[in-house]
Amino acid sequence: MWRLTGAQYARAIREVTGSRYGEGGSATAAMGALDGAPGDVYSNVAAIAGMDHPTLEAVVTGATLEAQKWVATGYKTSKVTCIRATTSVSNTCVQEFVRERLPTVFRRPATTEEIDAYVRRLSPIAQSKGGEEAARLGMILMLSSPEFLFRSEMGTLTAQGSHRLTPWEVGNAIAFTLTNGPPDPDLDRAIIENKLSTPAEIGAQVERLLAAANNTDESFAMRFFKEMTNFTNVLNVMKAPNSGAGDNQRPIDATEERLRDLMSKPSFLDNWLLGLKGSAPDQAGFLTERSFLWAYSQPASTDPIRRGKFISTKLLCNQLPSIELADIPDFNPSPNATMRQQLAQHNTQASCVQCHKMLDAIGLGLERFDDAGRWRDTEQGAPVNTTGVLLGSGSEDGPFNGPVELSEKLARSTRLKQCFVRQAFRYTSGRNESTQDACSLTAAYSAFAQQGRLFDLFKAYFTSDSFLNRR
Ligand code: HEC
Repeated sequence: MWRLTGAQYARAIREVTGSRYGEGGSATAAMGALDGAPGDVYSNVAAIAGMDHPTLEAVVTGATLEAQKWVATGYKTSKVTCIRATTSVSNTCVQEFVRERLPTVFRRPATTEEIDAYVRRLSPIAQSKGGEEAARLGMILMLSSPEFLFRSEMGTLTAQGSHRLTPWEVGNAIAFTLTNGPPDPDLDRAIIENKLSTPAEIGAQVERLLAAANNTDESFAMRFFKEMTNFTNVLNVMKAPNSGAGDNQRPIDATEERLRDLMSKPSFLDNWLLGLKGSAPDQAGFLTERSFLWAYSQPASTDPIRRGKFISTKLLCNQLPSIELADIPDFNPSPNATMRQQLAQHNTQASCVQCHKMLDAIGLGLERFDDAGRWRDTEQGAPVNTTGVLLGSGSEDGPFNGPVELSEKLARSTRLKQCFVRQAFRYTSGRNESTQDACSLTAAYSAFAQQGRLFDLFKAYFTSDSFLNRR
């Protein structure tokens, strides 16, 4: 079960009531309550999305306001005209109303039992207080129901003992994951016409939705990159006004534009890591992009440790040893030393070297660029030293000189490609991979390896056993 996020809830409300959630003075508390702070994990995580009492209260308040708005607007265009009465209406009319509303609210056909349950609840009101009141209450109940607030990926039991997702579940999962909202009319039609079963059919819909979202700022693929790389952290690393770093939104915009351009094209990873090569000395790709370098910097200095950590843990999926760090001595940089000299000072103890040997040696290879990602040829008056050592990359380990060589090594590393497939899997599935996902990951890897298109990676997930069959 997945609880809708705040943004998804707003989109789902709009689908049901036709009104923009939050418009016309209605509370946005429900949206806020549904957006828990995800901490250091991807935001799309099934496990964190529960429903506590304050959240439920906010949701019921939201449902009440939205139902009120609907009675004043959308209700008047409902095909079930008999319900529009302030006087008593028949059970048949209530049934017609529920039958019309439930599939839109549940985003799938409703069962007879589900319809009956709502009719039983609303009929007495319809009789005593009239149709309009029953419709209003009906909408409150529906918009507070688990079927509206959650989406299920329970599947139906197969002969092999696994649970196969239904076409409705597949359609809703694709739509909410890729577009943050309920299925669009095209997808609805595919589900109803039973054209969302084969990998080719599912893949075509995934491709369509990814391509349609590609030009919008918050496309699925863009959200993935923002969360995986955190390049928008530029906004949190303030530079002094006299540093000449400039407006901090610009490096972010530039990276977004370049990513959008690459997303649907072949050889994605090569272009991502090396695509800027040649446009300026020592420019490679993402790792020499201002947004990345600035996002991983300190207000007045570079941050090789965190740059190295990003490359090692996020791009190569290495895990840092987990050890107790009792007493890390204060980092007292001397103002006249280079970053390389400063890091060497704290790298003398064996306990530190375990991590810092790897992290610092990678990150120092990016010293060609200053803390705001600008090219430089000197540091503290001396020529910049851009040598580094790559560790934890599998076949590509070893010394390198400068960002281009580093990026070339990374682009050749099979470990990096495998790690990238895993990151995309984690983001799309909302969980970490387990041994049961090995086949799906291998399939995704080969689909991706063929043309190297980013979209193929997401397509592979939604047609994989890990997604379609639950145990
Ligand atoms: C388990 C791996 C690991 C070990 C062991 C380790 N560090 Fe670190 N250290 C890191 C990481 C990762 C960072 C980057 C900060 C972060 O991610 O929180 C870091 C950051 C630092 C920083 C920069 C602090 C800052 O806020 O910018 C200093 C200084 C430092 N470590 C010194 C040491 C010293 C000295 C030792 C040995 C006593 C040591 N570290 C042992 C992983 C380690």
